[in-house]
Amino acid sequence: MSRLLVIGCGGVAQVAIQKCCQNSETFTELMIASRTEEKCIALREKIEKAGTAVKLETARVNADSVDELVSLIRAYKPDAVLNVALPYQDLAVMEACLACKVDYIDTANYEPEDTDDPEWRAIYEKRVREKGFTAYFDYSWQWAYGEKFKEANLTALLGSGFDPGVTSVFTAYAAKHYFDVIDTIDILDCNGGDHGYPFATNFNPEINLREVSANGSYLENGRWVETKPMEIKRVYDFPQVGKKDMYLLHHEEIEALGRNFPEVKRIRFFMTFGQSYLTHMKCLENVGMLSTSPVSFEGHKIVPIQFLKALLPDPASLGPRTVGKTNIGCIFTGRKDGKERRIYIYNVCDHQECCRELGSQAISYTTGVPAMIGAALVVKGLWKKPGVFTTDEFDPDPYMEMLNQYGLPWVVDENPVLVD
Ligand SMILES: NC(=O)c1ccc[n+]([C@@H]2O[C@H](COP(=O)([O-])OP(=O)(O)OC[C@H]3O[C@@H](n4cnc5c(N)ncnc54)[C@H](OP(=O)(O)O)[C@@H]3O)[C@@H](O)[C@H]2O)c1
Repeated sequence: MSRLLVIGCGGVAQVAIQKCCQNSETFTELMIASRTEEKCIALREKIEKAGTAVKLETARVNADSVDELVSLIRAYKPDAVLNVALPYQDLAVMEACLACKVDYIDTANYEPEDTDDPEWRAIYEKRVREKGFTAYFDYSWQWAYGEKFKEANLTALLGSGFDPGVTSVFTAYAAKHYFDVIDTIDILDCNGGDHGYPFATNFNPEINLREVSANGSYLENGRWVETKPMEIKRVYDFPQVGKKDMYLLHHEEIEALGRNFPEVKRIRFFMTFGQSYLTHMKCLENVGMLSTSPVSFEGHKIVPIQFLKALLPDPASLGPRTVGKTNIGCIFTGRKDGKERRIYIYNVCDHQECCRELGSQAISYTTGVPAMIGAALVVKGLWKKPGVFTTDEFDPDPYMEMLNQYGLPWVVDENPVLVD
């Protein structure tokens, strides 16, 4: 018996909410609150029409405002808040959860909307100098809440999507069941899907394009090695998808895994992109459309990447058009009982099957299911401890079991081809 407040009603939220409704033993009441309440109402009507035991309510909230969030949380009195709006809202939602003494779960770590803000920029530049990676997002902002959550006896579970999220659970599972020591981790994110548009992103375009146009980086012997965007390319033959070009990116779980598994010698992250996607992205970047700094246009201030988002297809609408499969997982090397070992833990997800089940494409699906699982484990008390944590810091077994149960079955290959 629990009440969950979900913030956001985009592609990922719509999957997470529908999956919560499939898990009505855990979630008995659910509030969907977002900037555009019409989307929340439309989703509630869709779910109620299909039939659900969960009592649904909706609200409008501006999640940039701590005061609005606090009023909503005080009025609804949830057991936990699942934040599946944007990373820009993470700190405001965490503040509100602390003020109301409620547990917190999200899928992506904080990054600022305004990267020109001088106060933020000074802290960012210090971090770049100290740590050696230039991504706009990092865990320091949310880890800084560790003591406050601990003192309040609350749990904040960060990054419970697929990557980050499941990839870190795979790491904890590999460490628990397969290795005495893990030496290397390669996280491989392959989307073999085709939506038929010349250019579209599979999750929020602003967040996605910021991430993939940035410098790459990886951890080696405890130090960050930074690369130019798309500088490191490999080809990998993905089970059930086939051969794809993949590129090394900076990704947030590298930071958390590097901290929590300091013995691992190298952690890298690769994502697949087709040549057409990269050519479109380069062209948009070259003309300034990926810029996050406002420009004046006919007397208005507009942020180019936000304008571009308005032109691109809504990722939540791609479900019916997308065919093909995703394959996301981790290749681990290391040792067990004195012998060398390598394993590959991955999930394959079919875009059309996701669409038939929930009307969504596989990227929203593979993020929304783990968001529900993270929230369920926190409210059930299985993943409950005071402080701020990532998904590799709990017992992976119940999470792995729920992945199988809720549509993301995984495979362990004990003799994978390694990435060079
Ligand atoms: N870990 C992973 O594997 C993974 C993978 C993909 C995505 N993600 C994360 O998942 C999150 C959601 O992505 P998405 O693709 O679902 O994005 P999306 O489709 O753009 O949805 C974002 C939702 O948040 C709402 N929102 C934005 N600003 C808000 C505000 N100030 N107050 C209240 N609501 C607000 C939006 O409202 P409107 O409807 O009014 O726009 C929309 O409903 C992002 O943080 C993304 O980084 C994680």
